[in-house]
Amino acid sequence: MKIGIFDSGLGGLSVLHCAKKMAPDMQYVYYADEDNVPYGEKTKEQVKEYTIQAIDYLLEKGVEAVIIACNTATSSLPMEIRRSYPIPIVGMEPALKEAIRLYGKLGKRIMIAATEVTIRGDKLHHLVDSVDIMHQADMIALPGLVRFAEAGSYDGEEVIDYLRDSFSEYDMKEYSTVVLGCTHFNFFKSAFRKAFGEELHFVDGNHGTVRQVLRLLGGKPLEEERECVDTEFDIYFSGREVSNEEREHIHTCFEQLNKMYKVE
Ligand code: DGL
Repeated sequence: MKIGIFDSGLGGLSVLHCAKKMAPDMQYVYYADEDNVPYGEKTKEQVKEYTIQAIDYLLEKGVEAVIIACNTATSSLPMEIRRSYPIPIVGMEPALKEAIRLYGKLGKRIMIAATEVTIRGDKLHHLVDSVDIMHQADMIALPGLVRFAEAGSYDGEEVIDYLRDSFSEYDMKEYSTVVLGCTHFNFFKSAFRKAFGEELHFVDGNHGTVRQVLRLLGGKPLEEERECVDTEFDIYFSGREVSNEEREHIHTCFEQLNKMYKVE
């Protein structure tokens, strides 16, 4: 079976990486809208148009389901449009519910990190209103991390300084958990820990999303996840083939993801 995975850029590779560990025998087609990244700094209307183009492109490639591996695109695409496609279109939203379930009892605060578009969007506000009963969650936009992720800069001084600056108004000792509400942020768990301490927990929506798409396709995840050993999949940048140099860069992203998501 063939699954399409789409993101504004390279952040959704973290979802593909997770899918390859959970269901290595599926075929994957990845679409990165490199001509238009970052979505977080566009209007909701623009992001909606780009998202429709990407889904249509993946449909032409014969995929049987699409994962919108982008919280920003998911929040910009109305549900009726998603439902109008002949195949399942599965979106992602910040995994706040899971963060509260896992770490809410610690009694500390939870930070939702996402893009500006996601944070402004009604979807996230509805989610917070419905699950954050104890008013534990705050939100922050980190547009710089999208740029660092695209450039392959993951935990150098410039990233640590950016994080410390961005959080200067917060006392991070009050926070137990960061919800990685933008797939580009999944590359930065080590940078967050370097900036704010080893005890920080992270929650992303990768497993839940992959599980949902497999369920809709009548497939099952492996009982035991395997390391993601290969980077064999079709990949297009805004509808064009990628160059050898771009493939190399994608390979480096996978190496970083292998470090961030070790199979225990
Ligand atoms: N990776 C995207 C997300 O999950 C958006 C990053 C961007 O293009 O600004 O929200």
